[in-house]
Amino acid sequence: MRIYRAKDYDDMSRKAANIISAQVILKPDCVLGLATGSTPIGAYKQLVEWYNKGDLDFSEVTTVNLDEYKGLPRDNDQSYYYFMRENLFKHVNIPEGRSFLPDGTEPDSEKACSRYNEIIHQVGGIDLQLLGLGQNGHIGFNEPDDHFSLETHCVDLTPSTIEANKRFFEKKEDVPRQAYTMGIKTIMQAKRVLLVASGKEKAQALRDAVYGPVTPALPASILQYHKNVYIVADEAALSLFG
Ligand code: GLP
Repeated sequence: MRIYRAKDYDDMSRKAANIISAQVILKPDCVLGLATGSTPIGAYKQLVEWYNKGDLDFSEVTTVNLDEYKGLPRDNDQSYYYFMRENLFKHVNIPEGRSFLPDGTEPDSEKACSRYNEIIHQVGGIDLQLLGLGQNGHIGFNEPDDHFSLETHCVDLTPSTIEANKRFFEKKEDVPRQAYTMGIKTIMQAKRVLLVASGKEKAQALRDAVYGPVTPALPASILQYHKNVYIVADEAALSLFG
C-alpha cells in the first residue's frame, strides 16, 4: 500500500485526480471503476477542469461504477446514475453507452446482479478502481459481514450507513434500504485500487483498514492483500496514523 498524505480535501482531490489522469494517459482505452459519495467529488471536478483545458481525453475510456441504490429511478437526484452524470459524465467525452452502473430500477436482484457481472466481464475487468470509505469500513456498499462477498449482489444497508447517508435525502425514511454493489472479489481483481478518504469521521476506519486485522467485519481491510493500492487521504483522515 502506498499512502499519500494530503494537506486537506482540495489537495487530496488533486492528488487522486493525478493518479486517475495518469491511468487515462498511459492507457487511453482503460476501464475506470468509479465511486460516488462526497469524497470523490473534488477529484471529478479536477478531471473535468483538465479535460476542459485539453489535457485529458476520455474518448476511449469505459467506466463501471461500484454501486447503485435499489429502487431509485435514474432521474432521482440521489441515484448514483444521476450523481455520476452531474459530477462527471455530462462534462467529459466518455463515449455514449460506455458508462455502466448496476440497474437500480431492476426489481429482480438476481437479474440486475448477473447482468452487471456480465458487463464487467465483457469490458475485460477494471484497470483502476476508485473507492471511497464508509465510516464502518465499507467499500462500495459491501457492508461489514461475516464473509467477503464475491461479485455483484444486493445488500441490506446497515443502520450506520443509512444514518451517514441520510444527509443527502430530505428525511431518513427516504434513504433506500437496499443497494446493488460490486463484490469484494471484483474489486480485488482490479489491477490498481485508489482509495480516497477525507475528514476525521474516516480516521478510525482508515487506521483499522491499514493496520488492523483483515476481516470482513471491516471490508476495506481486504485491501492489505492487494498488490497495487494507493491511498490518498487528508490529515484529518490520517490523524490516527501517528
Ligand atoms: C456510500 C457509497 C460508498 C462511499 C461511502 C462514503 O455509502 N456507497 O461508495 O464510499 O458512502 O461516502 P462519503 O464519501 O460521502 O463519505
